[in-house]
Amino acid sequence: MKQRGEKISCLTVYDASFSALLDKVGIDILLVGDSLGMVIQGQSTTVPVSIEDMAYHAACVARGRQRAFVIADMPFMSYAGKEQAADNAARLMQTGGVQMVKLEGPKIDLVEFLSENGVPVCGHLGLLPQSINRLGGYKIQGRERSAADQMIADACRLEKAGAALLVLECVPAILAEEITRQLTIPVIGIGAGADCDGQVLVLYDILDIGIAKRPRFSKNFMQDASSIEMAIKNFHEAVKQGAFPGEEHSFQ
Ligand code: KIV
Repeated sequence: MKQRGEKISCLTVYDASFSALLDKVGIDILLVGDSLGMVIQGQSTTVPVSIEDMAYHAACVARGRQRAFVIADMPFMSYAGKEQAADNAARLMQTGGVQMVKLEGPKIDLVEFLSENGVPVCGHLGLLPQSINRLGGYKIQGRERSAADQMIADACRLEKAGAALLVLECVPAILAEEITRQLTIPVIGIGAGADCDGQVLVLYDILDIGIAKRPRFSKNFMQDASSIEMAIKNFHEAVKQGAFPGEEHSFQ
């Protein structure tokens, strides 16, 4: 799709019913995000989410889908070492039925190790929600030149290590565009401007049913829709046509 210039649509999803609906509408990638800690469990961060939680929700999503590609987040501290990462990735793929796992941060050695052992890996750079207690807040990342250069280098190293996909969260649009151009693998943005190869949002945010305030980079697609299915379809088409995100959902 990247080579064809076709934008990739991705939404988070945590259960079989929504999985079946997103699949039917045509969403390309279903992400079983550890954001489930916030939107399903009512936690204030993703940190308390366990591998058991992720495997359970991944299996629910896998049962609902027929066509879409399914990725699950490796939760906080489930990939602190190679053996632990391998065991937990295997659990998400074997019990959870997902096709790829996502790891936050420039974990080059782990990505290489998992990829070499047959695990498709998605990297995640920019804002890393699992590191919130170190970051001190949900802030835009990579604004300073040195941080931007580091992110570009990390993205290239992840690709070289075998990552097959990269999520960029909350970074200036110009930086996301630069990374997307430099990489061969697809880059999926969330708060990363319009020039990424695809877009991901939290499902509950686009349906306006989140319990937390919707982030500025997201959009309420229920506003102009008469059903949940139509809202999801509108998101999918807006991504495909490059109509989402607009300037108002991006950072300079
Ligand atoms: O957990 C999640 O929902 C995510 C997205 C924000 C990309 O990782």
